[in-house]
Amino acid sequence: MTEKKKLYIKTYGCQMNVYDSERMAEVLGGADGYDQVDSPEAADMILLNTCHIREKAAEKIYSELGRYKPFKTANPDLKIGVAGCVAQAEGAEIMRRQPMVDLVVGPQTYHRLPEMMKQVDAGQKALDTDFPEEDKFDHLPDRPKPKRAPSAFLTVQEGCDKFCAFCVVPYTRGAEVSRAPDRIIREAQELVERGVREINLLGQNVNAYASDDWGLTRLIWALNDIDGLERIRFTTSHPNDMSDDLIAAHGECEKLMPYLHLPVQSGSDKVLKGMNRQHTAEQYIRTIERFRAARPDILISGDFIVGFPGEEDADFAATMDLIREVNYGQAYSFKYSARPGTPAAERAFVAADVANARLQELQALLTTQQRALQESMVGQEVQVLFEKAGRLEGQMIGKSQHLHAVHVLAPNQKIGDICRVGITNSETNSLGGELAIR
Ligand code: SAH
Ligand code: SF4
Ligand code: F3S
Repeated sequence: MTEKKKLYIKTYGCQMNVYDSERMAEVLGGADGYDQVDSPEAADMILLNTCHIREKAAEKIYSELGRYKPFKTANPDLKIGVAGCVAQAEGAEIMRRQPMVDLVVGPQTYHRLPEMMKQVDAGQKALDTDFPEEDKFDHLPDRPKPKRAPSAFLTVQEGCDKFCAFCVVPYTRGAEVSRAPDRIIREAQELVERGVREINLLGQNVNAYASDDWGLTRLIWALNDIDGLERIRFTTSHPNDMSDDLIAAHGECEKLMPYLHLPVQSGSDKVLKGMNRQHTAEQYIRTIERFRAARPDILISGDFIVGFPGEEDADFAATMDLIREVNYGQAYSFKYSARPGTPAAERAFVAADVANARLQELQALLTTQQRALQESMVGQEVQVLFEKAGRLEGQMIGKSQHLHAVHVLAPNQKIGDICRVGITNSETNSLGGELAIR
């Protein structure tokens, strides 16, 4: 029997890329395919699943490819592929800039990887960045059987029709498309049969999910009926696609976790308008209030961009005011990065030192809020889903309902167990706790 070839995948960017990497590994796996390995050194194929969201993310890919040059010199049979959003945005340009790349595949065509690999094995280059008529999910193999980690991603919706003035996603992922509910439910059931206890539903605008008369809320309620599935999450939502029934579900659906990631980007209506966000700061704040009315302990997470073209001191101050009003338990913040082809890239930039100073100030405030919320958990009891062993003997690490990482001494517990834990201390990015005595 010949040894199976080895595939190394490196994933950048958002959770959807994490999901796509799993599916690509499955497409390239199978009987005479590749086994996935976790280092590039001995690989027969290296695949970078890339992100184009900010300039730094995209440039990283070229420096990473440079690192593989010696591998290709040592092993001329080594195949190198670029997938994901840089592949979609730059296409053949990648092969021009880095000729050792054999294959470029976009996020909507990776079901065609087997045919593309035949081309590559025959010594040709393969490029496919179509937005095909067919749905890749109809062509991907069934998910294989091995036992899985207790928390899994499941893509239900892809693409974006919103065209925020700064963002490449509508160009790299295409228009909004939702998968059929029966397929999603079947995939969820299969994941649960393999040990999954928590599913995080993914979409670029996951609350825009719409398939026949199914919306995201109906999908969540259907998943709620799956025995063995204990937790449901979803990300990322858009403020303009929020529905009353989704808000209400946070108070009614037992398995739906008290956590909402709802990006706002800015607290200034002028900047929001420039960004083409189509909502005001006030509307966003009212939406958060409605979630809190439905589920008082819900943890709010957000995304922010500072230094967007046209952002003045007063606009930044409005963002800081919004943050004070909302009080975030978690947040991601970025300095504006001009992306070729997007409308905002044509506008006058905010000076880099001004943007840097604002980012620091904003992150300091968000960190203070996040720490204060963590501190407030001390003395409370939470439920922890154990995901891995910790570094200390008998220690387990898991996530609370609010997605806090919790470290617990629990030598008799297994990965996948959900336990009641009393929180005893708050560290920089995690909580510590003790198993609650029954
Ligand atoms: N679909 C999601 C997020 C997509 S990208 C949404 O609509 O919220 C994730 C985050 O990256 C965005 O929320 C935004 O904060 C940030 N981002 C996107 N484009 C950016 C750019 N050009 N410069 C800086 N940050 C950006
Ligand atoms: Fe990008 Fe805006 Fe679409 Fe989010 S809603 S993916 S930020 S264009
Ligand atoms: Fe990046 Fe593409 Fe996700 S640009 S954030 S990998 S959708």
